[in-house]
Amino acid sequence: MLVDSHAHIQLDAFAADREEVLENAQEDGVHSILTIGFDVETSRGAIKLAEQYEQIFAAVGMHPHDAKVFNDETSKIFLSLADHPKVIALGEMGLDYYRDRSPRSIQKIAFEQQLDLAEDKNLPVVIHNREAYHDIIPILQARRGRIRGVMHCFSGVVETMRQSLDLEFYIGLGGPVTYRKSHELQEVAREVPADRLLVETDCPWLAPQFRRGKRNEPAYVRAIAARIAELRGVTLEDIGATTTRNFETLFGRSVQAGT
Ligand code: NI
Repeated sequence: MLVDSHAHIQLDAFAADREEVLENAQEDGVHSILTIGFDVETSRGAIKLAEQYEQIFAAVGMHPHDAKVFNDETSKIFLSLADHPKVIALGEMGLDYYRDRSPRSIQKIAFEQQLDLAEDKNLPVVIHNREAYHDIIPILQARRGRIRGVMHCFSGVVETMRQSLDLEFYIGLGGPVTYRKSHELQEVAREVPADRLLVETDCPWLAPQFRRGKRNEPAYVRAIAARIAELRGVTLEDIGATTTRNFETLFGRSVQAGT
């Protein structure tokens, strides 16, 4: 049993065959999916799917790329979306200094305001980072004990992993851990404490090695979990059980089949 803790199955990339993609996931033991918004439209899309399918949960938020359009009005929209019973997290939010599609100062404001929302709503957060840990870590340290969440698609080294663990955050590992040259990330996969590990696809992007460059989908979280199991010298079933339990602990929802 596996949970894909970070997917974007509300996107048009899945418009033609979403049913089939969801069946593939079930067949491969991926019994729950957290689908994540990155602006108002995709957040609403996530909720719509979560209303349609029992096994789908939603997260709502504004990606740092679009921080420039985050304002009081969008903040109010997210505040009301967050009250939906299937919304279990806020995000993705964070800082992206790789693409810099919004000015960094503006990214920080949108990030801080969404962290305020998360505190107000007592919801965990899904953090997007690219080359910005040096700014993300102090922002979260200032709220230590008041904010919990996951470092989505963790891309740092063991040292930044330790800093994230100190903040009581979870480490989300995705497709890149399966890439042949991801030595640092594989080191993280070996070192991360079992009770802080989550697995994710970030589909339709970042397909694991066996599908690299193609469209990713929730079923492939199995290949990611299998690689992590191999790196840690445990079974796929172990990784499935542990990461499912971690998902339930962080997001406060039971996702076991039949409960
Ligand atoms: Ni994502």
